[in-house]
Amino acid sequence: MKRTSHITELREIITMERSRGRKIALVPTMGYLHRGHLALVERAKQTGAFIVLSIFVNPLQFGPNEDYSRYPRDLERDSNLVKAAGVDALFHPTSEEMYPRPIVTYVEVGQLDTVLCGAMRPGHFRGVATVVIKLFNIVQPDLAFFGQKDYQQYLVIRRMVSDLNLPIEVCPVAIVREEDGLALSSRNVFLTSEQRQEAKVLSQSLNEAETCLRAGERSARVIEEQLRDRISRQCHGIIDYAEVRDAEDLSEVTIIERPVLIALAVKFGSTRLIDNKIMEVDPHV
Ligand code: PAJ
Repeated sequence: MKRTSHITELREIITMERSRGRKIALVPTMGYLHRGHLALVERAKQTGAFIVLSIFVNPLQFGPNEDYSRYPRDLERDSNLVKAAGVDALFHPTSEEMYPRPIVTYVEVGQLDTVLCGAMRPGHFRGVATVVIKLFNIVQPDLAFFGQKDYQQYLVIRRMVSDLNLPIEVCPVAIVREEDGLALSSRNVFLTSEQRQEAKVLSQSLNEAETCLRAGERSARVIEEQLRDRISRQCHGIIDYAEVRDAEDLSEVTIIERPVLIALAVKFGSTRLIDNKIMEVDPHV
């Protein structure tokens, strides 16, 4: 596996592979890798492309009171993991390499960035879209892989690629979970054992919402109420949001007739966890 923190060196490596006729796949991450990230690598490997995995904790996407400085980092462990997983090149730039001077040019994906996590974390998706387009310009991948764990982020990137005519195929990958249902996240390490126990209420309440929908419930408000109820009864976490939204454009839903995103964000102490489920409705129920 090649490994570099320099843009010019990475570009040389990629140019060489491209000249051999290889497609290039990008897996952007912030590191502290787990099986969720490795599932993206697995999917990328199936395409036969040359896989570039980036690790960069992007300061631009963290708010002033968020966890940028305490975000978990372990480059050597990550490097071993991705090497074993079959990544071809690991790109781990410094902040100075990515932002040699204060950035004044941003990418903003309107509408999608004002709801759910966007409403709770102003500027977050602008930071994500801006660093992702920088990574796209550095790597110029044919394919890029994003997890549905961050479904709103996936929609933001997909829309940016479409609106700006970027010649990149954006590939979504299903959420990877622990045995008890908790979605894998680099932030799970911050949970106390009590919080970790309680955190399974996120996936449990999503499963309950699914059961309700399958049984014929079509009111988004009723589903949301049930989610809130269950979460506040079963854990000490503070609900940031528990919402049913249109799965394509995140617009508000009253009666569920098309695929919906059921999305949750819950704060356990200072650790904020998100989870979601995409639900298709059977028109005959
Ligand atoms: P990070 O949180 O490290 O996640 C990197 C990628 O892994 C994202 O596409 C995310 O959705 C995916 N991922 C994380 N946990 C997952 C899980 N349990 N199952 C499936 N996929 C999972 O998301 C970011 O970094 C950043 O915002 C980034 C896109 C790198 C821009 O800085």
